[in-house]
Amino acid sequence: MPSLAQRYAPFLRVGAAVERSTLVTHADLLLTQVNSLVCENAMKWALIHPVPGEGEASYRFADADAIVDFAAEHGMRMRGHTLVWHQQVPEWVFRASGGGMASKAEVLGRMQRHIQALLSRYRGMVSCWDVVNEALSDGPQTWRADSGWYRTAGSDDDGDGIPDYIVRAFQYAREADPSARLFYNDYGIEAGAKRERAYALAKTLKERGLIDGVGIQGHWSIHAPDEGVVRSAIERFSSLGLAVEITELDLSVFGWGDISSFDTLPPALERVQASRYGALFRVFRELAEAGKLQAVTFWGIADDQTWLDNFPVKGRKDWPLLFDVMHRPKPAFWSVARW
Ligand code: XIL
Repeated sequence: MPSLAQRYAPFLRVGAAVERSTLVTHADLLLTQVNSLVCENAMKWALIHPVPGEGEASYRFADADAIVDFAAEHGMRMRGHTLVWHQQVPEWVFRASGGGMASKAEVLGRMQRHIQALLSRYRGMVSCWDVVNEALSDGPQTWRADSGWYRTAGSDDDGDGIPDYIVRAFQYAREADPSARLFYNDYGIEAGAKRERAYALAKTLKERGLIDGVGIQGHWSIHAPDEGVVRSAIERFSSLGLAVEITELDLSVFGWGDISSFDTLPPALERVQASRYGALFRVFRELAEAGKLQAVTFWGIADDQTWLDNFPVKGRKDWPLLFDVMHRPKPAFWSVARW
């Protein structure tokens, strides 16, 4: 079986999201197929910093450490995911020590210390960070409002048009590790109003020297988006002089809003998936060769371990990756590996 990491080495890095447990259960695939890793959950605030306070006792570094060590041992690059996100963040982060809602200063202080703790611990081992994840709205407003960050520290006191917590997060990360490449990461930013919101945000941050890249998550389906849409988005972000990565790629066999289910993957859908993956990677190779795309990370490695089994429909089996539940290459693998 060919190695995607090797096949793509001239163009871009190929990565996978992992848990500490998948380093064991999926070791063979990881070691042969990818040269970049990201923690699927282990670096998220709720997991790495579950308890208030700043001492070692407030952090749980063991799982993230194990993944970072595995990457280092095998010469893989490591992405950091994620410092500031509205999900998987404990409620205490936004609560005042004396009860009630925390002040903006309190929240920003916690954020700064958290960022400092992670970036100093993993300096030289984690080369890029998703500093802010999913801050943009899907609706008519610009900014996501259902976020503790937005509610407590989202005012725009300096009048730069960006909620202050976002700019601060990037500033704190820059100070904490000037050598780290800092990313804004989001879903749905390949098209429409959200793409332009992401573009405007990235542009402003770039003008202030605070950002190095944009992560397009890539939680797509076998029905959408069209590869031409993806191409334009990558070109648009790249035109800012930023690195662009696809950071969380998986192609659900269900279209958005489809709540049907199957016991096994229907061969017809498996074929559509193979052709969609093939079309996307043709674009990825071309743009990578032109210096406009740096890496593609899958959100998992094989279909036996995918978050889509519980999203958006809890307990519904999905088959979004290149390897099947038995870790064998799917038709989609061959259409990505062969050209
Ligand atoms: C998901 C994980 O895959 C799940 O295991 C977890 O329960 C929830 O988060 N966008 C992101 C990722 O940026 O962090 C999310 O990961 C998927 C959507």
